[in-house]
Amino acid sequence: MSHSGAMSNDDNAVMANSDKQNEVIIDAQFLRLSFRWAESLFGKGAPFILGREESALWKANKELCENNRYSMRRMNPPWQGGGVSHSGAMSNDDNTAMADSDKQNEAIIDAQFLRYKDVLQKRCAERKASVMQTYKIAVIAGDGIGPEVISEGKKVLEGIAGLDGGFRAEFTDFPWGCDYYLKTGRMMEENGLEKLKGFDAIYLGAVGYPGVPDNVSLGGLLLEIRRGFDEYINLRPVKLLKGAPCPLKDVRQEDIDMIVVRENSEGEYANVGARLFPGTPQEMALQTGVFSRKGCERVIRYAYELAKREHKTLTSISKGNALGYSMVFWDQIFKEVGEEYPEVETSSLLVDAASMFFVKNPGRFQVVVTSNLFGDILTDLGAAIAGGMGLAAGANLNPEKTFPSMFEPIHGSAPDIAGKGLANPLAAIWSVSQMLDFFGHEDWGRRVIDAIETLLVEKKTLTPDLGGRAKTSDIGEAILEILRH
Ligand code: NAD
Ligand code: IPM
Ligand code: MN
Repeated sequence: MSHSGAMSNDDNAVMANSDKQNEVIIDAQFLRLSFRWAESLFGKGAPFILGREESALWKANKELCENNRYSMRRMNPPWQGGGVSHSGAMSNDDNTAMADSDKQNEAIIDAQFLRYKDVLQKRCAERKASVMQTYKIAVIAGDGIGPEVISEGKKVLEGIAGLDGGFRAEFTDFPWGCDYYLKTGRMMEENGLEKLKGFDAIYLGAVGYPGVPDNVSLGGLLLEIRRGFDEYINLRPVKLLKGAPCPLKDVRQEDIDMIVVRENSEGEYANVGARLFPGTPQEMALQTGVFSRKGCERVIRYAYELAKREHKTLTSISKGNALGYSMVFWDQIFKEVGEEYPEVETSSLLVDAASMFFVKNPGRFQVVVTSNLFGDILTDLGAAIAGGMGLAAGANLNPEKTFPSMFEPIHGSAPDIAGKGLANPLAAIWSVSQMLDFFGHEDWGRRVIDAIETLLVEKKTLTPDLGGRAKTSDIGEAILEILRH
């Protein structure tokens, strides 16, 4: 609707004033409806994403203002109850008019909003990361050097939250581990998984200590979480940062840059087996690998997707020549899934030869996919060629986010150096970088790695394993200091 006929100067003056008023009214009305729309499109909390000046809504709003001046001018702002801008009491007719005009305005606004849906969706995704958000993180510092390195990682994450200003980290500590076992007979509370379920992530130090059998300590905590929360991807970067020591000769820093995708829920670690005829000469132990089609397909597919996205080659590492059931099946699935990814360059290696190439020619690996056991062993080897155990991190991911994912250094509790301030917490800090990536703060994730690199190049604040004299507790602050500049 619009005014008909020519306007006088007076009309224009009135118009100008009322225009301003209209803008305010329209803004208010538009935002109110937009918020409702945003909620329905993007879920609860979305309204906070729609900063007025910066979003496409503002543009839509302007157009609305110009195109629908008459009908919009009749609106009162919502804080005045909406309705016509006539002064005095409203008649029933007025009310009917208001209702009509409301409906009409809503329809117009809805149509406008729909036109900007795509722009908004993109904008929302961008803004979401910068909207103040609280990440609830369950901390299981665990045994040995676990608490020492985790405390540095927490410092870094808290520091980053402060620098960013858009999110905060809320830590809840769980005192589970070998000490807890010695007191209670359990590695974690009976309803441990239930307690962890609601967290956004789990940050774990290390589990296992002399005095508790390793299969009991790991089986009752770390492995139970990985399996119970279906964290079927274990993502372990093997990347030689500038300044990090490398024991290999004739290898350039950029030659060691791979990501190992380790199957993390079944395979050789399925814990299926038996001890038969104990105490007799026939005594035997059976340990069965479990390789399900679903389990193999999902990890292999994940690796193909990663390789495709990052334009990298993919190497599958297995052992079909000796493990004629499980690994032949793995190799078959690797080929089958590969048919969906003709653009990904692949190779398939036996694990013995692959170990040799890790040392002799690490540059041939980009994305690597392998089974649970082989991934475990190869990533300690990977750590050895890329700066040591103090620099190797791993993310246990439940990609569907049905359950929390878990972030940890890949090293153990290192009883030989525990309690002495000698442990290198950079692996635990690298896992913070992986956690930030997982939360959608890839920029911070990258900056943490860059800060680790700067620390390694400067060589001023390093722990003894890297040739320095700093204590574990010096490192978090040193990383933050770099991040601040
Ligand atoms: P480990 O990784 O704890 O230690 C191997 C060697 O690397 C040791 O010499 C240790 O001093 C050194 N090292 C490890 N992390 C280091 C760090 N951050 N800084 C400096 N040096 C570091 O392996 P292990 O000795 O075979 O295992 C010890 C215990 O940890 C065992 O109970 C084992 O089952 C357990 N474990 C737990 C995890 C885990 O919780 N994710 C992983 C591996 C081993
Ligand atoms: C690792 C560890 C664990 C594993 C052990 C402690 C069960 O070595 O995370 O690499 O083998 O997965
Ligand atoms: Mn390991």
